[in-house]
This record gives sequence, C-alpha cells and structure tokens, in this order.
Amino acid sequence: MNILVTGAAGFIGSRLCLELLKNPKIFVYGIDNLNNYYSIKLKKKRILELKKFKNFKFIKLDLKDTKKLRKLHQIKKINSIFHFAAQAGVRFAILKPKKYFDDNIISFFNILNFAKENNIKKIFFASSSSVYGEQIRFPVKEKFKLNTKNFYGFSKKINEITAKTFSKLFKIQLIGLRFFTVFGEWGRPDMLIFKYIKANLNKEKFYLNENGNHFRDFTYIDDVIKILIKLRTVKFKKNFYIFNICSNKPKKIIDVINKINKFYSDFKYTSVYSKNLKKIEVNTTHGDNKEILKFLKKINYSSFDEGLKNTIDWYNKNKINKIT
Ligand SMILES: NC(=O)c1ccc[n+]([C@@H]2O[C@H](COP(=O)([O-])OP(=O)(O)OC[C@H]3O[C@@H](n4cnc5c(N)ncnc54)[C@H](O)[C@@H]3O)[C@@H](O)[C@H]2O)c1
Repeated sequence: MNILVTGAAGFIGSRLCLELLKNPKIFVYGIDNLNNYYSIKLKKKRILELKKFKNFKFIKLDLKDTKKLRKLHQIKKINSIFHFAAQAGVRFAILKPKKYFDDNIISFFNILNFAKENNIKKIFFASSSSVYGEQIRFPVKEKFKLNTKNFYGFSKKINEITAKTFSKLFKIQLIGLRFFTVFGEWGRPDMLIFKYIKANLNKEKFYLNENGNHFRDFTYIDDVIKILIKLRTVKFKKNFYIFNICSNKPKKIIDVINKINKFYSDFKYTSVYSKNLKKIEVNTTHGDNKEILKFLKKINYSSFDEGLKNTIDWYNKNKINKIT
C-alpha cells in the first residue's frame, strides 16, 4: 500500500505521516516545497523525524511545477493521496492573495490531474472551517450555505467545487476535510497558542485582538490524526464527501490565554482592536461533528486541557522559541 501525502513537512501532514509509518505495510511518499511562510527549520525537523522510518521517502517538490510532478510517474503505484499542501493562514491572505491562488487553487488542480493521469482513485484533501465565513446558527453543519469572508476561505471553497466536479467526471473519490483550528505538538508558529507562548518567551509584545472575545473550535492534533487514520479505511459508497473535522467544543480565546497563563505566571498581552481583522475574521467557529461520526461511529476525543498540557510540555522540552 503506497500513500502520497502532500504538505508532509507541514503540521498536520507530518503528524499523519508519522502515524501511517507505524504500519510497516504502508509506504509513504511525502511531498513539500518547504516554503518560508514560517520556520523552515521546524519543517526540516519534522521531516527528520519521518526519515527515521525506512518506509518513508521525502520528495522536495513544488506542486505548481507540473513538469516535475509529471516525473513522479517513476514512483510506485499510489493507492491514495492526502493533499494537505497549501498556503495556510487567514491574515497572510491580505498581504499575498496571489499565493493562495497559486498554492491552493492551481496546485490542487495539478494534484487532481496527477491522480487522473495515474489512475489514483482516492484523494482526501484539506479544506477549512474558513469556508463557512459569517454564520448565524451554530454548530455549523456541512450542508450550510457558505459565506466565505476571506481569500483563504475562498481558495478552499474553489477546491471543494473543483473536487466535486472532478469526482463526477473522472470517478475519483474525493473526501474534503474542513479542519477547525488544529493545535498541538509540532504545531504552527503562526497560530494563537504557539504565537502567544513564543512572543512571551522571547519577551516580545503579544497583541490580543478584541480582548480575546471570540470563539474558536480548537481541535487537538491527536484527535485529528485518529479521525484521519479511521477515515482512510472507510468504504465510501459515493464519490464526493465533505466533513467537518472539529471538536464541537469552542473555546473563548481569552479563556485559552488564561489557561496558558496558569503554566507561565509572567505572561502578558496587549489588547488591540483592528478594523481590518474584523473584515476578514469571524467571531465564532463551531463545527458540528455528527456527519463524520456516522462513518466513524466513535472517536474518543481528548479534553482541551489535556491537549494544551501536552502542547506546552512539548514547547518547553523543544525550546520552541529557539527552533523557530
Ligand atoms: N492547522 C489548522 O488549524 C488548519 C485549519 C484549517 C485548514 N487547514 C488546512 O490543512 C492543511 C494542512 O495545514 P497545516 O496546519 O499542516 O499547514 P502547514 O502550513 O503547516 O502545512 C502546509 C505545507 O504545505 C507546503 N506547501 C505549500 N504550498 C506548496 C506547494 N505549492 N507545493 C508543495 N508544498 C507546498 C508548505 O511548505 C507546508 O509545509 C492546509 O491545507 C491548511 O490550509 C489547517
């Protein structure tokens, strides 16, 4: 069984590879262009962990490069793809919208085309809670009308539409995963928990938007990986599915900050209000996870506090402010 994981040096991709590699019957090809959106050192460290396994091969490749992607024909027959490579981040999309077009929309199309040309029949792909945008009813269900608010969410919405069309036309199974604020060990330096800890450890100012009065459906990485591993073996009847990957337990940002402060007594933040952020960010993300549970039956979710403790222990042990 050969599995291709794109975005293998990224947070979710690397953690999925790690879990897949524990199964000696699976060979994992990991693709990443190691872009510099955040610390390349952290990405390389994740890949080093994966290279400890004999059943792993890392391929440094940019999915925009169709010529090099074609040469991948030489790798062994791929059974399924997990496509996680993307330009992530809602705020960065104001600065560099073109990157979202190139790395999310074009690259996704290239990987679909690669699957078509190589007769690969199953692709799991990363979408995002950002496709929902501003909503009135919570928790949000997969069938809700999308009200995307920023270019990142827009690029993921285009991915979903492209995937649906591809699945119909070329009989490829496409399973879209709307991730909600994933956190945990080996996490992303541009996301709240990592950013807050790092800024304070480095004695830099941390700006907290709107007094932390918004809610995010924080989802612990171990739970995400449990879900993905189970989902991989589901026999799907249809060719197109979309699932929320969430904890269904949103947390208020200020409460998360206060929980972190219990671990580090001297941590501080400066409150700010940003009109620009209000334009692109929603007040609440809160996903409904019933749809995925229909297929997986039961997932033993970790508590937020347990996930946070493991994350902080990992940050301290690895001196994250130094490696990023
Ligand atoms: N982490 C979250 O909370 C979250 C939430 C919603 C959606 N997502 C989505 O899940 C996926 C994984 O997220 P993540 O948190 O691991 O992000 P990440 O930034 O850590 O990982 C993405 C990886 O893709 C690589 N990449 C980007 N463009 C590429 C290209 N053109 N060719 C090859 N590699 C490329 C990057 O170098 C990076 O290592 C992304 O698609 C992201 O949009 C994540």
